Amino acid sequence: MGKERIKAAIIGAGGIAQAHVRGFQEHGDQCELVGVADTDRGAAERLGAQYGISGVYAGVDALLESTRPDLVAICTPPAVHTELSIRCMDAGAWVLCEKPLCASLEELDRIVEGEERTGCRTASVFQWRFGSAAQHLKHMFEVGSLGSLYTGVCNTTWFRDQAYYDVPWRGTWKSELGGVTMGHGIHLTDLFLWLAGDWLEVKAMAGTLARNIEVEDVSSALVKFRNGALGTVLTTVLAPRQESYLRLDFEEATVETRGLYSVSNENWSFDRGERRPADPPDALTEQWSALSTDVPGGHAAQIGHMLADMREGRRPSTSGDGVRRTLEFISALYKSAFTGETVRTGSIGPGDPYYAKIHGGQG
Ligand SMILES: NC(=O)c1ccc[n+]([C@@H]2O[C@H](COP(=O)([O-])OP(=O)(O)OC[C@H]3O[C@@H](n4cnc5c(N)ncnc54)[C@H](O)[C@@H]3O)[C@@H](O)[C@H]2O)c1
Repeated sequence: MGKERIKAAIIGAGGIAQAHVRGFQEHGDQCELVGVADTDRGAAERLGAQYGISGVYAGVDALLESTRPDLVAICTPPAVHTELSIRCMDAGAWVLCEKPLCASLEELDRIVEGEERTGCRTASVFQWRFGSAAQHLKHMFEVGSLGSLYTGVCNTTWFRDQAYYDVPWRGTWKSELGGVTMGHGIHLTDLFLWLAGDWLEVKAMAGTLARNIEVEDVSSALVKFRNGALGTVLTTVLAPRQESYLRLDFEEATVETRGLYSVSNENWSFDRGERRPADPPDALTEQWSALSTDVPGGHAAQIGHMLADMREGRRPSTSGDGVRRTLEFISALYKSAFTGETVRTGSIGPGDPYYAKIHGGQG
């Protein structure tokens, strides 16, 4: 890819498209927004008028043929993510697709086949990985500064009322592709799994306690990691006081992030507790405090990484195996919740009902 600006386009001009447009604008020196498509032409027109995007289309084919984008952000409801990702790659574009990327491990394999066929890549939006503090923590853990990870707590305790589920695509396996585990907890769960490393097995429960929906509104899981570390993952949309809380207890320090939708430097804390040396200065705390300028874990940060990956011809870190680990965990969580089994990594493959459908059932 040369030095010219990357041509970016958006499919789906609803709520989350705003974050993508602002993300592209923040990197306006490297990319230009050439078009937006929405089956609701009025929605595309409104977004186009709001941000001065000249190419407005009601159809995806018209967008792809007229603007020939290098990169497409897919911001539609989940059920069409796989089909659209493959269509965009077939048209020669890389894809940044909203979560959940696809309905099942089988669909993920179809996307990966599409990548191999076209040479393009499809990355899932997991914006929380790309904040400065998360990147710094990941680096400190990988270089060994923090010692082993022993335990983790990952709580997505959010609130969504029944009216939230009145939007036609929400609340069913077919159109939302899952319940709170897939739709809401996926952000923090992905951050947890990305930071903690390979998971080995999952034991879980799920239920629909209060909302009139087909999918679950609460789930809870125990996870064991390859190094023996243990964690819990709790997700609900029934919590009156909302929070996203992640706690990692490493050998050398407890690291936490507490917030709701924002994961900025100020949301994180680093505490050596009983491990704090009697004689200051504490070199490890200083290493944590060397955290660079705040880059919030948001769409703009992830788009910055995606543009750099495209220029370098690199696989984005939330594509292929980088998304499989999280999607496989969610598949295993549902399988465990619905069968009562403990589910091991690598065990859900072709022929397993939870490979074709994340909930293992029909519809
Ligand atoms: N990353 C995040 O933090 C975050 C936050 C909110 C939503 N999301 C995800 O973003 C996606 C969209 O959510 P939203 O809240 O913006 O939804 P929305 O309903 O507000 O907007 C979706 C838009 O897509 C359009 N659309 C539907 N099918 C289409 C098709 N086949 N082709 C073109 N356009 C089509 C609709 O007309 C609508 O304008 C979902 O997958 C959701 O889970 C992610």
